[in-house]
Amino acid sequence: MSGSNTVFYVAAGGALAGTVRVAGDKSISHRSIMLGSLAEGVTEVNGFLEGEDCLATMNAFRAMGVKIDHLGEGQVRIEGVGLKGLKKPAAALDLGNSGTSMRLMSGICAGQDFDVTLIGDASLSKRPMRRVTDPLMAMGARIETSEGGTPPLRIFGGHSLKGMDYVLPMASAQVKSCVLLAGMYAEGETCTTEPAPTRDHTERMLNGLGYAVQRSGARTCLQGGGTLSGTQIDVPADISSAAFFMVGASIAPNSDITLENVGINPTRDGVITILREMGADIEVLNRREVCGEPVADIRVRSARLKGIHIPEVQVPLAIDEFPAIFVAAACAEGTTVLTGAEELRVKESDRIQVMADGLQVLGIRAEPTADGIRIEGGQLGSGTVQSHGDHRISMSFAMAALRTSGPITIEDCANVNTSFPGFVDLAARCGLNITQN
Ligand code: S3P
Repeated sequence: MSGSNTVFYVAAGGALAGTVRVAGDKSISHRSIMLGSLAEGVTEVNGFLEGEDCLATMNAFRAMGVKIDHLGEGQVRIEGVGLKGLKKPAAALDLGNSGTSMRLMSGICAGQDFDVTLIGDASLSKRPMRRVTDPLMAMGARIETSEGGTPPLRIFGGHSLKGMDYVLPMASAQVKSCVLLAGMYAEGETCTTEPAPTRDHTERMLNGLGYAVQRSGARTCLQGGGTLSGTQIDVPADISSAAFFMVGASIAPNSDITLENVGINPTRDGVITILREMGADIEVLNRREVCGEPVADIRVRSARLKGIHIPEVQVPLAIDEFPAIFVAAACAEGTTVLTGAEELRVKESDRIQVMADGLQVLGIRAEPTADGIRIEGGQLGSGTVQSHGDHRISMSFAMAALRTSGPITIEDCANVNTSFPGFVDLAARCGLNITQN
């Protein structure tokens, strides 16, 4: 892991231009390692995100005996060991900053016949895990958390799991995925019902590796005891990483950028819907399907944005993009109101509070509420903002500089490497006046 003292310095102004490919999709990259490891035979992955989060997943599966070769930039070859082939790791598995690794792997580890301990960094160690341990224990798993329901997770092996019908209390793809992955190890059928659509990469990839998943509306079911077959997986660029450039190009006059090969899965495209509703000029070009996932090129040109009340149905569809959307709101004419987004308070940081604090430093009226925020668009000033080690906060404020009246400094940016290594170089190439220490 890199140190925590990386600082971004961003001079005011500039425009974004060019045709670029942003980092690979984080959610799909994690799942490619997990399902590839549990498959029979070899899985080859292209476009794998070599960010710290996905590397944590990769190292965890290596520690459980899976041979995973890094063939080159974004190319990974996994020799699957089958659903029953994982081995007891020699030490606790350190999942760093990655909530996806911990929540999805808890479902897999609950089905093993050995004990595993999952640990993480300071941020992950504060995040809620009962949302996964509760349903897993109801299936028959034995797991200990800290008193507050946070990591470390001690998962005791050798407990047989029973399929269950789980109604999720919150819209969370991590919880849904955890239960379905445990369901592969459970007797009988496991079903999840979600309160609103969330990203469905797990379901799509399970089907892609030959494990039947039935979906009907909000309900998803699978039978335990199946098998996965190794395959070839092409990972698209991450719409969550593209979002920073979509916002940057929208707010900076004279911008015209094309983001190539971006995943536009309908459970992830809320940022396009929301920005368009704010008046953004976004064209989705060359739509195609790659390995069961919809992909397109996205062209964004500058536009005058206006404040909106963000429709609550869009919240889970844009859950990781709100820090960037808040920057768009700060540059928009009028007020933007977000409600129904209390989940943002338990991400890598409390994204409602941390964004409100940073926008206020820059002179914007941003009022946090229990489940959202109210932002009045205005002129952004200069100053020093704290990212609290949250990658998406760092990158969102970097883009804000395109419209500030003076330079901004962003502290604690090392975790940008969890999801978007190379962000600074790519953003600078596109026209952002950014350097880091
Ligand atoms: C993810 C699901 C989302 C998202 C996270 C990645 C996934 O979390 O915020 O970055 O890959 O399943 P929740 O399930 O907690 O909403």
